[in-house]
Amino acid sequence: MEILRTKVIDLLKKAAGEEVLAKGWVRTKRGNKEIAFIALNDGSTVKNIQIVVDKTPETEPVLAKIGTGTCISVRGMLVESVGSGQALEIKASSVEVLGECDPMRYPLQKKDTSFEYLRTVAHMRPRTNTFGAIFRLRSQMAFAIHEYFHSKGFVYLHTPLITASDAEGAGQMFQVTTLDLENVPRNKKGKPDYAKDFFGKQTSLTVSGQLEGELGATALGEIYTFGPTFRAENSNTPRHLAEFWMIEPEMAFYDIKDNMDLAEDFIKHLVRYALDNCRDDIQFLNDRYDPELVQRLESVIGTEFVRLEYTEGIKILEEAVANGTQFEYPVSWGVDLQSEHERYLVEKHFGKPVILTGYPKDIKAFYMKQNPDGKTVRAMDVLFPKIGEIIGGSEREADLGKLESRIDELGMSRRNLEWYIDTRRFGSCPHSGFGLGFERLLLFITGMQNIRDVIPFPRTPKNAEF
Ligand code: 4AD
Ligand code: MG
Repeated sequence: MEILRTKVIDLLKKAAGEEVLAKGWVRTKRGNKEIAFIALNDGSTVKNIQIVVDKTPETEPVLAKIGTGTCISVRGMLVESVGSGQALEIKASSVEVLGECDPMRYPLQKKDTSFEYLRTVAHMRPRTNTFGAIFRLRSQMAFAIHEYFHSKGFVYLHTPLITASDAEGAGQMFQVTTLDLENVPRNKKGKPDYAKDFFGKQTSLTVSGQLEGELGATALGEIYTFGPTFRAENSNTPRHLAEFWMIEPEMAFYDIKDNMDLAEDFIKHLVRYALDNCRDDIQFLNDRYDPELVQRLESVIGTEFVRLEYTEGIKILEEAVANGTQFEYPVSWGVDLQSEHERYLVEKHFGKPVILTGYPKDIKAFYMKQNPDGKTVRAMDVLFPKIGEIIGGSEREADLGKLESRIDELGMSRRNLEWYIDTRRFGSCPHSGFGLGFERLLLFITGMQNIRDVIPFPRTPKNAEF
């Protein structure tokens, strides 16, 4: 009689006494003269199901073909396990090899299981318990994000990936062109003639969906974007990717305080969701790599984030320096905080997440609402233990005159931004938003140390493999 395949996650919830069919990849095979034990994993859970196979003239040739990485199909009876370590196992009545795996060439056979090595075989690393756990968590968190905003009535807005404007004004964009680089058409001034390019103008991959998000918020009320973002910053750090995913909510009628409240609630909700719904994977990562992981996640949920002015933050850091703390980068009013400074505030000084506001306008983007002091803007960065900045956002400058003069002051071109400035010309409203770096969130939730290990195929300087 035909039976349907059951995933391992569901097998482990069943009661003994049922005939089942399991399919997956062998993690390990061991045994003695009479019996073979196979640990089978199919990616549905970090847990394996143990398969017990009697060695007979019939099974021996099949077993000989089975080793780590082999893909097999097993039919048998689900029974209570006598061995320790698992409650249930499958007593196999038939085993079939679906795909052999040459142990001499299988990249995960190697003794070297360092994260550095596994990055060089990123096409195979999801087969490991660790990366299985991480990518399941990644998927669950994406779902939790959509669910959170939908439950609040936010509209999911798809913003373009190809754009002619530099939202952050930091000039870190990847150009998109179909011009022949061997033979670039030139204009009268000898510059590349972008009128001849695919879009008739110079275009790049977006660094943020925010500007288009603001168009959405000032029409639909509350929107969010969730998509890939690209930055050509040459920073080879454990916290930067050239291609990362960002979640950007944008809300009409929110001021900076409402914005902070939402950011705090949002991130706490996501951490709670992970603890409630992804416990096996988190526990696995906790037990194997980071014994404080669960506790760190719980502590964030149970605490009120500190809200602090940048100016106050600088004072604390200057005092720390005066008292002997050494930072690689100097601190004084006006500097952009480095991750070491952010982590000092969060981990050493307050011992909890900090939302820093009121940054100097010169280190923040053109669109942020200017404070009456003429020096600072209503920016807010959410700083997290182990990570530093996890969220960046602000109340937006809603005043047409102030926005235009800031654009001019920074020497930006108004021509490419006329469509954006229209939001302030026609029915301008107070509004705010922020961006959560999805991989930074995943660093926090998984306890991983390097951002390359929380995205399936990382893009970083000099690396676009797979
Ligand atoms: O602070 P950022 O640059 O803010 C913006 O892009 C705004 N437009 C967001 C908004 O207000 N709608 O980036 C937001 C977040 C950072 O806090 C960080 O978590 C993440 O995006 N991020 C990166 N993550 C990985 N690799 C990079 N190179 C990142 N750059 C920023
Ligand atoms: Mg930022």
